[in-house]
Amino acid sequence: MAAKDKTVYVCEYCGQDSVRWVGKCPACGKWNTMKEMTLRAEKNTGSSAARAALKAAGATDGRERPRPLNVHEIDADAEPRMDMGDAELNRVLGGGLVPGSLVLLGGEPGIGKSTLVLQTVLRMKGRRVLYVSGEESARQIKLRADRLQTASGGSELLVLCETCLEQVFERIEETQPHLVVMDSIQTMQTESVESSPGSLSQIRECAASLLKYAKGGGVSIILIGHINKEGSLAGPKVLEHIVDTVLQFEGDQHHLYRILRSIKNRFGSTSELGIYEMRHNGLREVTNPSELLLSDNREGLSGIAIACAMEGVRPLMIETQALVSTAAYGTAQRSTTGFENRRLNMLLAVLEKRVGFKLAAKDVFLNIAGGLRVTDPAIDLGVMAAVLSSNGDMPIDSDVCVAGEVGLSGEIRPVSRIEQRIAEAQRLGFRRMILPAHNMNGLNPSQYQIQLIPVRRVVEAVRELFG
Ligand code: TYD
Ligand code: MG
Repeated sequence: MAAKDKTVYVCEYCGQDSVRWVGKCPACGKWNTMKEMTLRAEKNTGSSAARAALKAAGATDGRERPRPLNVHEIDADAEPRMDMGDAELNRVLGGGLVPGSLVLLGGEPGIGKSTLVLQTVLRMKGRRVLYVSGEESARQIKLRADRLQTASGGSELLVLCETCLEQVFERIEETQPHLVVMDSIQTMQTESVESSPGSLSQIRECAASLLKYAKGGGVSIILIGHINKEGSLAGPKVLEHIVDTVLQFEGDQHHLYRILRSIKNRFGSTSELGIYEMRHNGLREVTNPSELLLSDNREGLSGIAIACAMEGVRPLMIETQALVSTAAYGTAQRSTTGFENRRLNMLLAVLEKRVGFKLAAKDVFLNIAGGLRVTDPAIDLGVMAAVLSSNGDMPIDSDVCVAGEVGLSGEIRPVSRIEQRIAEAQRLGFRRMILPAHNMNGLNPSQYQIQLIPVRRVVEAVRELFG
């Protein structure tokens, strides 16, 4: 009996499927995201791409299937990692690239994904890399490589301009690279699906074949993917489910800095962050971000406070800027960049109710400098300090920094990793640090040159800052 191809509708956003088309996704509630997709009829053999992948991986028609193993039997000796020759990238990956892993690097067009990957593979040591481009010609890639002027690390870089996945698998077979880069997944096409490149079914099928290939052959694959205007990866959640690691490259295109974060990582933490600066000759790792995030000339300016927040395992001194002005129209505006709006409203309510500042009729604008997005609650005190400084037009001394979470009753709650935060503040030349009193337990203040000022309540912090 010949099986028939089946048509299903899959939500582009969350991957939910449905047998009929619906305007609104029943799972995530997004409108107009259901896209038609054809499921192949053949059962076991799978698509030609999957077959090629299996063959290449040396699987013998699936005869040798894995058996259950006792967890103690499993050999987990230090997973070998591939050094990417780039400290930021290594850290975001969780200590280097795991052989046989599939990594997705997402970001808006023009943010620098191709640049990051190209300069990295050029610098790698003693590896063979196959760079598959469906977007640029070999000449363009060569021009970019020349522009990057990176000292070659001695790896062998092969460039292939191809969009047919089956062809790519053949070339991988021929060249046996350690690492394959695909720029971008949206331009790849497999013969087993009829829709056009970039469509949901193409992306899903290509990524699934690539994953099978990577797992079978031990080759690592980096996929570059574009992000659509809503900020999700185009061809989106489905792709995030398939790959091992999702890295996102972001940053305002007008900003100097680019931030690489890991959104999902099967081999490491997702709290890590890498910072780069875009130069005329490529991306430069920013190893000392705090120095860059602080502006030099803040002496005497009101509305600026320096908070010490953790990004991953690194403490960063972050400049928080606030502007408080009398609302011109009936309702006051609250607008934030890099900080959660609701959290700002909460902090303003605490200031109003517990400290007695009348801010309800004021417009409040808040900005985290450098295009960072901060989620560490320890920045609360910095936000409050910046707001009060702007409100009263009272500058904060430039040698003071703060760290502390603010609770609903106006108490200052303890923060994590206080020693590291203090060390960073001291290293950058701050002389005084306002911190939660609870964090003083077990600390020896005489060990630091920086003066530690413990506070229990917001009122006390306000007194310390503004006298
Ligand atoms: P690109 O890597 O092509 O972005 P993506 O692959 O994410 O679409 O780089 C985009 C921009 O970076 C491009 O507009 C030019 C700029 N750029 C530099 O400023 N310096 C450089 O050395 C390079 C290679 C690019
Ligand atoms: Mg590109």
